[in-house]
Amino acid sequence: MGGPSKERPVSIQSGKACLKALKQCGYNVEKFDPKKNIIKNLKRIKPDIAFNSLHGKFGEDGQIQKILEKLKIPYTHSGVLASKNAMDKIVSKKIFIKNNLLTPKYKIIRKLKDLKNSISENKFVIKPINEGSSFGVRIIEKLSNSKLKIINNELKKYKTLLQENYIEGQEIQTAVLGGKVIGSVEIIPKRNFYDYKAKYSKSAKTKHIIPPRISKKISEKINKISIKAHNCLNCRGVTRSDFRVSKDNKIYLLETNTQPGMTELSLVPEIAKYHGMSFKTLVNWILNDSSLKR
Ligand SMILES: Nc1ncnc2c1ncn2[C@@H]1O[C@H](COP(=O)(O)OP(=O)(O)O)[C@@H](O)[C@H]1O
Ligand SMILES: [Mg+2]
Repeated sequence: MGGPSKERPVSIQSGKACLKALKQCGYNVEKFDPKKNIIKNLKRIKPDIAFNSLHGKFGEDGQIQKILEKLKIPYTHSGVLASKNAMDKIVSKKIFIKNNLLTPKYKIIRKLKDLKNSISENKFVIKPINEGSSFGVRIIEKLSNSKLKIINNELKKYKTLLQENYIEGQEIQTAVLGGKVIGSVEIIPKRNFYDYKAKYSKSAKTKHIIPPRISKKISEKINKISIKAHNCLNCRGVTRSDFRVSKDNKIYLLETNTQPGMTELSLVPEIAKYHGMSFKTLVNWILNDSSLKR
């Protein structure tokens, strides 16, 4: 838990909640924050299993997974390649398209000029390739000089950005556990979109609706897509896929998260709870899935 990424505070919350649940299950658990001397410390602790509660860079992109593989320490959630591919929004989009999964039209932006002749002039989304928690995600309505300046600053920071068509409609997120759907949640942010504050701050008053207000047909389609996304990326354990459902009922897959939030109030645990699976049972399931099955 913790780690070096921008999502460190969220990971500490996930880690604390999982630690508590694992203790309640009767396991001998030790906290480990991979910041310095990671290999040396892992060799010293020699865990039977590493329960991965990291989010973002290093913990979600295959790096820690690679270290754990080398040290022959079994670990939870997805493996090296699945983590790496899912975290990279360009690579994962290409994999989704190859597998006939609909994802918003996109363009890779390396310099401001790339925005010209762009896919959508009115409303579009700019996002980094390798972030999470909505860091760097911006909804741009009509490109003005001040907005160009903002995008230019983001380019300086991230070098490469993704420009996506904005999908007007409902936001649905679906939890998959071991290749089976647990359920979905509909997200209604009071803010402009589901940004960092809308995700983590109670005062942002984002509404979570379980089950989502969608037809049975759409819900079944979303379930199928979520399983296909989990499988085509070769994920293990738990994943959460993020969707936008347009007004004409097209289902757009935004991304599949291989290390979804695991605080007791996070979306996957919330969905699991609604469907009768306690947080403790969920955490125990994830742990037991980790043994060297890969
Ligand atoms: N193409 C899009 N159309 C509409 N909203 C989007 C689009 N892309 C992202 N968003 C909004 O931004 C949020 C974060 O985007 P996402 O691609 O899931 O990145 P992150 O990895 O940061 O969660 C989404 O939950 C959604 O609210
Ligand atoms: Mg997301």
